[in-house]
Amino acid sequence: MNIILLGPPGAGKGTQARFLVEERGMTQLSTGDMLREAKDSGTEMGKVVAGVMARGELVTDEIVIGLIREKLEGEKGGGFIFDGFPRTLAQADALGELLNDCGEALDSVIEMQVDDEALVARITARSTCGNCGEVYNDNTKPVPADGKCTSCGELAEFKRRADDNEDSLKIRLMAYYKQTSPLIGYYHAKGNLNSVNGLGDMAEIKTAMSDILDK
Ligand code: AP5
Ligand code: MG
Repeated sequence: MNIILLGPPGAGKGTQARFLVEERGMTQLSTGDMLREAKDSGTEMGKVVAGVMARGELVTDEIVIGLIREKLEGEKGGGFIFDGFPRTLAQADALGELLNDCGEALDSVIEMQVDDEALVARITARSTCGNCGEVYNDNTKPVPADGKCTSCGELAEFKRRADDNEDSLKIRLMAYYKQTSPLIGYYHAKGNLNSVNGLGDMAEIKTAMSDILDK
């Protein structure tokens, strides 16, 4: 089963993707994580994208489609979760072609609906385990007092993202509404679209997603 998690910054795509990886053995393909890895390892591409990401703008279609193409050619497993990809109509067309080329289909697109006020509160309170990527939140899921990640058990550094500030978030939200939200209509027309209320608690949202995937 191959699915897309579609939603604005802070909607909970990464959080829910990790549940799906644990419970269903699926493979998470987050273009945001791939770009941050490239940036941290100092590759030429990483240097090019660092400023674009920090400002909250979208990286070029060519770069992200290339990253996804490499992953689809290299990895096989219990299905892919596309997290943060596609983000433009050109990326959506490219994903359709890439899946087709490797004999795969797109089974479901889950749109996660969260209002802007909640997104700002979530993003400005987020941190991530530097060791395993587990996502925390100062308000809803605080970093453990002993400094050991609840997921990997390691004494970890909990990192804040360079784009998790109100100025970048304004630009990220605009990019979502302008360039990514047309995908809602695109996948509705293809008969793939499902929506969940992303405002509930994490466990309730997880159940709502399972209901969609198991129906
Ligand atoms: P990316 O890394 O994809 O960021 P994003 O889409 O802005 O989404 P986030 O990762 O910020 O949010 P999320 O939905 O994963 O939420 P999370 O689960 O962490 O992209 C970053 C940048 O890379 C882009 O701006 C762009 O520059 C570039 N890029 C990436 N892909 C690209 C593409 N395809 N094309 C072009 N450029 C691309 O949750 C957020 C917080 O909320 C956490 O603290 C979490 O604990 C908390 N939380 C989660 N669920 C709940 C809940 N139900 N209740 C309360 N709190 C919750
Ligand atoms: Mg994410």
